[in-house]
Amino acid sequence: MSKPNLILAIESSCDDTSAAVLSNNVVLSNLVAGQKIHEQYGGVVPELASRAHQANILPVVHQALQKAQIELSQLSAIAFTKGPGLLGSLLVGSSFAKGLAWGLNIPLIEVNHMQAHILAHFIKNENDEYPDFPFICLTVSGGHTQLVLVKSATNFELIGQTIDDAVGEAYDKAAKLLGLPYPGGPLIDKYAQNGNPNAFKWPTPDVGKYEFSFSGIKTSVLYFLQKQVKENPNFIKENLEDICASLQHHLVKILLDKLTLAEKKYQTKNLAIAGGVSANSHLRSSLKTLGKKLGVKTFIPKFEYCTDNAAMVGIAGLQLFQNNHLASLSSKPTARLAV
Ligand code: KG4
Ligand code: ZN
Repeated sequence: MSKPNLILAIESSCDDTSAAVLSNNVVLSNLVAGQKIHEQYGGVVPELASRAHQANILPVVHQALQKAQIELSQLSAIAFTKGPGLLGSLLVGSSFAKGLAWGLNIPLIEVNHMQAHILAHFIKNENDEYPDFPFICLTVSGGHTQLVLVKSATNFELIGQTIDDAVGEAYDKAAKLLGLPYPGGPLIDKYAQNGNPNAFKWPTPDVGKYEFSFSGIKTSVLYFLQKQVKENPNFIKENLEDICASLQHHLVKILLDKLTLAEKKYQTKNLAIAGGVSANSHLRSSLKTLGKKLGVKTFIPKFEYCTDNAAMVGIAGLQLFQNNHLASLSSKPTARLAV
């Protein structure tokens, strides 16, 4: 048997510094250092994120190697996130990856962050169940909301995307209006558990068939809360669970209605979700229900591979490495990058 490929992967596109080691499709380690500093600002402050990556990157890579029990000299290649993301943050990860690849004289692989979220579905799992190509992936994160037709591990077609805010942004901005800290998505999810999903009605955006729009919903939350709080200053406190449950129910319905339309057109019989918002409990359970209703297979990432992590960069890097898609040492990160 040939020796497995040992990939060190680095992810630094936003506010999490992450490093992982993979032996082919098996994750040996996957460490994530979050950045608490942004909580007080209600969103990620790019300059502070870059500085925290700078402080975190070496210890995180070191620990990832230690946990995997892999020496630098054993590595086959280094994969890093090229974009999309915050440029200062990307520069830290890419410079580190380039320096290390150069020092070790091993191949460098540049990975598209959105493709990595999708390819996380190919990380080795207990049941050895993976999507069949082509499949449709609903990619939902803090910066993106996309419907992607995944034709192969290196061939992606954008079916549609948001024309303004991402759904994660809608969660985070609504949470901020509710007085919750950043990132608000997981907190809305938590408070929604005991609320009434039909308590309040939210608008449905009128956009193209495969497009999304979330900025109007955010504005309607703002106006609704302003009006209610004027009448009852305790309105948010008294109705937090119902507000969260009804908003979450509405957002998930919008997402899955569009995914259903895309499946009706492309008939892939394989539907997946990916990205930070795929950690959402209601989206996860509703996708399973939808799969049964449509008679199609559904794929939900393991919790640790939903939000930003380097293991997904590693699995995407592995596909590129196996297809000989290598980067040069003059590779540059890009803040904007299509899927
Ligand atoms: O993919 P990700 O970690 O970073 C980006 O590439 O943007 O996604 C972060 C987003 C944030 O907006 C966060 O609020 C959201 O994912 N998120 C959630 C949940 N967990 C994370 N949104 C709703 N429910 C959750 N359980
Ligand atoms: Zn992401």
